[in-house]
Amino acid sequence: MMEIKRAVLSNIREIEAIEKENFSDAWNAKMIEEELNSLSSAVFVALGEDKLVKSYIILHFVLDEAEILRIATQNASKNKGYAEALLSYAAEELKKVRVKAIFLEVKHDNVSAKRLYEKHGFKKIATRAGYYNGEDGDIYKSE
Ligand SMILES: CC(C)(COP(=O)(O)OP(=O)(O)OC[C@H]1O[C@@H](n2cnc3c(N)ncnc32)[C@H](O)[C@@H]1OP(=O)(O)O)[C@@H](O)C(=O)NCCC(=O)NCCS
Repeated sequence: MMEIKRAVLSNIREIEAIEKENFSDAWNAKMIEEELNSLSSAVFVALGEDKLVKSYIILHFVLDEAEILRIATQNASKNKGYAEALLSYAAEELKKVRVKAIFLEVKHDNVSAKRLYEKHGFKKIATRAGYYNGEDGDIYKSE
């Protein structure tokens, strides 16, 4: 059974470890803590049966719009539905606070992330050339 909840300070080290596994520009503990403390951010975690963090999502919101800044799943826990469950949960939470549109940017060649977003009704609205150190990024929107 998985559990999804708002991240707490004791989750920071686990999120940091998943960042390191997944991103060359991994956020450190301090950056993650700032997101946890920011009133314009939301961080949700998906816990496995062992109560450890398997996946997380970090969002920023401004007025009635939100942006997904990060979503990642621990390598050993990929393809078990964690990211999908987090996306659904986050979308429901954002609806409650009247967020009307969710945006995100993803590397053009990040097939698994793009498939996940498309499965969740996100539509590609633009391509930004050279967004990621010379690599193209695609901008997606869900409303
Ligand atoms: C993208 C990512 C978050 C998906 O996490 P996950 O927990 O493994 O995803 P889920 O098990 O919930 O899969 C949900 C859907 O994502 C898509 N997906 C996930 N992994 C995939 C893969 N290897 N290939 C193709 N599609 C994939 C599928 O549509 C899948 O649904 P389906 O199996 O019914 O087709 C994960 O691969 C990851 O951490 N990637 C590295 C970090 C990253 O690139 N984040 C996004 C940019 S910020």
